[in-house]
Amino acid sequence: MTSEVSTDRREASTDPGVTTDSGVSTDRAVRLTVNGKPHDPVLDPRSTLVDALRDSLGLTGTKKGCDRGECGACTVLVDGNPVLACMTLAAAAEDRQVTTIEGVSDGQGGMHPVQRAFWEADALQCGFCTSGQVMSAIACIDQGHASSRGRIREWMSGTLCRCAAYPQIVDAVETAARESASTGEPVTVRESVPTGEAGAVREREAGR
Ligand code: FES
Ligand code: FES
Repeated sequence: MTSEVSTDRREASTDPGVTTDSGVSTDRAVRLTVNGKPHDPVLDPRSTLVDALRDSLGLTGTKKGCDRGECGACTVLVDGNPVLACMTLAAAAEDRQVTTIEGVSDGQGGMHPVQRAFWEADALQCGFCTSGQVMSAIACIDQGHASSRGRIREWMSGTLCRCAAYPQIVDAVETAARESASTGEPVTVRESVPTGEAGAVREREAGR
């Protein structure tokens, strides 16, 4: 089974904003919760999640490669599940928990265990695919698809790497899964519930 990446895209477009026959813009505020923080950017209703993240929220860690659901570079988590942000309307993510690569670290500059595993396995060259690979890998481990190299390869096959770092990517996912199993520390960032001082800062920023 390959990564169950959502391809929810309905009339998504990067055209300028929609106006009605009377010339009134249909742009509206979309309630997005990204990495535990609330945002309400005013968006064209056809805006994709990847454009909202990158262009409206400045979260450029999520990459836009093909913009047509083929490369996986734009993979983010929505309620813990991997989705292709170029194939998902921003409005479809309203009131759901969106996690991007910027949200997986500990908030103090430390790498997420999966990021560290990628680093240590040398599982990247140019790095363009890496944020999508890491988000997909987190879901792979969290959802129990990392029990063998074959299963990892299958799950991760939806995210392409033009530098062909595939063997090292599988090494990294395997290592992170093994470490998670041995320490009992889940890799999930689904709840986006920060802890400690970093958490307190994030909670204050989020107004919670
Ligand atoms: S940019 Fe979304 S799948 Fe390629
Ligand atoms: S590291 Fe270059 S595309 Fe994957």
